[in-house]
Amino acid sequence: MGFSALHLLLWLLATVTLTTQELLTIRVTPKIVAACGQQVKLDCEVTSSQHGLSIKHIEWYQNNTSLCRINSEEVITTYHRHTVSDFHCEYQRGKLSIIFKEMKPMDSGDSKPFGCNIRSNKGVKDKSTTVDLQECCGHVEGVMKDGRPDCTFTRVYPDGEVHWFHGSHRLHGHHTGKRVEDGGWLTINSYLERKTSEVPYNCSLWSPKTGTYIASTLIKKRPKTNPLLGNGAGSYEPAWTFGFVAVLLVVSLK
Ligand SMILES: *[C@@H]1O[C@H](CO)[C@@H](O)[C@H](O)[C@H]1NC(C)=O
Ligand SMILES: *[C@@H]1O[C@H](CO)[C@@H](O)[C@H](O)[C@H]1NC(C)=O
Ligand SMILES: *[C@@H]1O[C@H](CO)[C@@H](O)[C@H](O)[C@H]1NC(C)=O
Repeated sequence: MGFSALHLLLWLLATVTLTTQELLTIRVTPKIVAACGQQVKLDCEVTSSQHGLSIKHIEWYQNNTSLCRINSEEVITTYHRHTVSDFHCEYQRGKLSIIFKEMKPMDSGDSKPFGCNIRSNKGVKDKSTTVDLQECCGHVEGVMKDGRPDCTFTRVYPDGEVHWFHGSHRLHGHHTGKRVEDGGWLTINSYLERKTSEVPYNCSLWSPKTGTYIASTLIKKRPKTNPLLGNGAGSYEPAWTFGFVAVLLVVSLK
């Protein structure tokens, strides 16, 4: 009697454990914060607590549109859309990876999740993840243009404020314009009114998000071109002039 009661209890326990245990587990790379220009790899891996898992379909998608998928023969099909960051997919033993050479701002953020969908003989699962881009500035260039200090920041994300300095003095009243480029990057241009100081102008991009400067450049007054030493020799000019005068003196003393 006691034996069969224990039997029944064990049987009940086993049944409950089996039915509450997940037959299919899907693991997706958690939210990534990527540096600009960094490769981004998202994995979607399926496992089963039971033997005999047969995968029929694994797919990465975004905004209801398929990016790549494998079928039951493990053949990868990739759907390239020119609006999405360049990518390719790889498959290995239950794991479908999507690899972006470089994530564009317009594909990143919490409002642009990447979803992974799995269909198998042990059920169907779906899970998503997102990619955030770190703030960045790809390139900064500062020049004297028509006697005006002018700087341009390209591939900026997410946004920044231009701060101008002259020595330790902050300059206000600059002209700043922004343009959104392909993929969601910003180009920011800024210039000051005509300036002639010998002290270089510091043009910096400040990020309100982190309260730090993410890029800066110094703009010097264009050096006077020298017919003998050529361009870029402006800083040597006083020494050269001195030498020239000395040579003249020596010549006239002879
Ligand atoms: C995807 O499609 C479903 C049904 O058509 C819709 O309810 C959902 O909002 C769509 N998702 C996105 C991200 O557009
Ligand atoms: C999702 O796709 C639809 C249809 O292509 C598009 O109109 C919509 O803007 C997209 N949504 C996002 C969040 O990209
Ligand atoms: C310009 O000024 C900013 C703010 O003071 C500073 O962080 C940055 O290093 C300066 N840049 C250069 C090139 O001197």
